[in-house]
Amino acid sequence: MSGYRFALLVMSDSRSKNPSEDKVKPVVEEIIKSIDARLVLYDVIPDEKELIKQRLIDYSNDDVDVILTSGGTGLHPRDVTPDATKDVLDYEIPSIPQAILFYSLSKTKRAMLSRMVAGVRNGKLIINLPGSPKAVDECLGYIVEVLPHAIDKLKGDNSPCGE
Ligand code: MTE
Repeated sequence: MSGYRFALLVMSDSRSKNPSEDKVKPVVEEIIKSIDARLVLYDVIPDEKELIKQRLIDYSNDDVDVILTSGGTGLHPRDVTPDATKDVLDYEIPSIPQAILFYSLSKTKRAMLSRMVAGVRNGKLIINLPGSPKAVDECLGYIVEVLPHAIDKLKGDNSPCGE
């Protein structure tokens, strides 16, 4: 099967005890279908920084194009996803969370409470998303159409960028 290969890592202390309660996966699967992408890696893990870092490293060494994370981006003391992500990135792409924030503020002012980051490790795009299915729908839905171009460029595509 052709198409882009995505990973999804859900961070939640509560849902990691009962992963079948995760409602983010079907939202992501539905959205990425629009760019002929599919989930090839998926897990629900607790909000533990070292565990998140290790899983991001493992996923970025696997055969994937994009690693999405969901949850743990806020202000709760257990929210450590952005900190773990920054620790493993080769470089950040601040404009992706900025673009998401710009759009999200039109949905809820609470969008300003997410510390999400995005960047690249080992040539793989890593993007933090908030934890609620509604937020994932809004945030990923807004950026999804840009992701194929981002992936192609990360793979060394030299063609002109004119839209
Ligand atoms: N962004 C969008 N687009 N829609 C939302 O509903 N929820 C916000 C914010 N970003 C939200 C959003 C809220 S209420 C919080 S607390 C932060 O994301 C952090 O969420 P997280 O801790 O689940 O990652």
